[in-house]
Amino acid sequence: MKERQEILVGLLGRVFRYLEEAGRPGTPVVDYQAPESLRQKMDLTLGAEGLPEGQLLQLCEDYLQYSVRTGHRFFMNQLFSGFNFPAFLGEIVTAATNGSMYTYETAPVATLVEMEVVRRMGELAGFQNGNGLIVTGGSNANLVALLCARHHLFPDIKAKGIRMRSPMVIFVSDQAHYSFFKAANVVGIGSDNVVLVKSDRAGCMIPEELDGEIRQAVQNGKTPFFVGATAGTTVMGSFDPLPAIAGICETHGLWFHVDASLGGGFLLSPRHRDLLKGCNLADSFTWDAHKLMGIPLMCSVLLTQSRDILYHACSSEGGDYLFHDYDNADFDLGTKSLQCARRVDALKLWLAWKCIGDRGYAERIDRLVELAGYATHKIASHPQLELMRPVQSIIACFRYRPEGATDLNGLNLALRERLATEGKVLINYTHLNGEMVLRLVVINPDLTERDLDTLFETIVGTGEELALAAARADEKS
Ligand SMILES: Cc1ncc(COP(=O)(O)O)c(C=O)c1O
Repeated sequence: MKERQEILVGLLGRVFRYLEEAGRPGTPVVDYQAPESLRQKMDLTLGAEGLPEGQLLQLCEDYLQYSVRTGHRFFMNQLFSGFNFPAFLGEIVTAATNGSMYTYETAPVATLVEMEVVRRMGELAGFQNGNGLIVTGGSNANLVALLCARHHLFPDIKAKGIRMRSPMVIFVSDQAHYSFFKAANVVGIGSDNVVLVKSDRAGCMIPEELDGEIRQAVQNGKTPFFVGATAGTTVMGSFDPLPAIAGICETHGLWFHVDASLGGGFLLSPRHRDLLKGCNLADSFTWDAHKLMGIPLMCSVLLTQSRDILYHACSSEGGDYLFHDYDNADFDLGTKSLQCARRVDALKLWLAWKCIGDRGYAERIDRLVELAGYATHKIASHPQLELMRPVQSIIACFRYRPEGATDLNGLNLALRERLATEGKVLINYTHLNGEMVLRLVVINPDLTERDLDTLFETIVGTGEELALAAARADEKS
């Protein structure tokens, strides 16, 4: 036991150093190795003989050494970044206790903790007497929302299967997350029956287009039943006009879902919560606490306006070995989940929220919006950078555009790859109308204006090196 204690203390010391290093200037975001090189640096093979536990420390060291430092301020690749200490403590306790969320009996504290987190999030979303559940990600929350909608409108499908004469169709904007295609596949709608409604230049769904698409679908003999609005789109961080979309759903009798995987956190900010105005009218609501609230992956909640729909849509026969008729059966959250065993993802969020409080979160989110504004201004006023779309929240789409450059897509791609492989900055890219854009996500709560200055200096400096090398190569050929 003593030896294990020493290993544990040793590991925590190493983890602490790893986290601290991420904040030091000059630490790369990643010690990038191509797959073959990485295989050579670590012994990944599994064999018949076990290792002494003492040797696990070195394996953990290697893992840390070659992993991406997602807590680093220049990890700007995804919709999460940073390190959350209270939540980290929650992860340790979660792993140590290894509870499972199907029954109160197996996870009594975790069950009440999850119920409180879901209650509070529902309250913030304006769901008066709603319900909710932690699921395995925003994608799955969207999937379960679609299932709830299908069950609400066509309850027979649950037992009898799909026997519709006219295909069901769903509507999301052309900026919505790709998980809706996957959900349509799983729920039996078919990805061809996902209608992509046009958005405007800022990335927000155009309500008149939605109305037109619904009417068109009806005329074509299809059965519309679900609209998924997005509050905080993946690429631009844009917010669909929820009140107008709610009105259209009401007119046509459709389920109204809000995918606030990214934007849900804005409900914590009195200054910015109006971005989600109208979300209280939704039938269901996806909220990833692992995005704006900075909780370690995964931590996603699906909220529903109805108290019972999750149970009706997700419950099944069987499970007598697990779910018993006893006083606390109402607390067996597994009956409204598609999973059997379910990891405890609530504790880390609850501990972080306890420690940071609503007010702390509001300050943090307001600061991120302020920093995104600073970044937008820097881009717009820089002669070699080009802002590609208006910025509504915390994501700025831009590109490097030196005078006279022709192949801007190629140049920006090369620039992005150089930054990533050198470990200087991880920043993702996408295409908007065929133009490649770098996508700056301002979500790490430790970011400062100085970091953003450094970021743009690094981008422009590296871009200049690449442009020069390309010009020299052209001269030679
Ligand atoms: C708007 C939106 N919805 C859903 C998702 C999927 O979330 P997750 O990665 O938690 O499955 C994302 C992911 O970035 C997203 O941006």
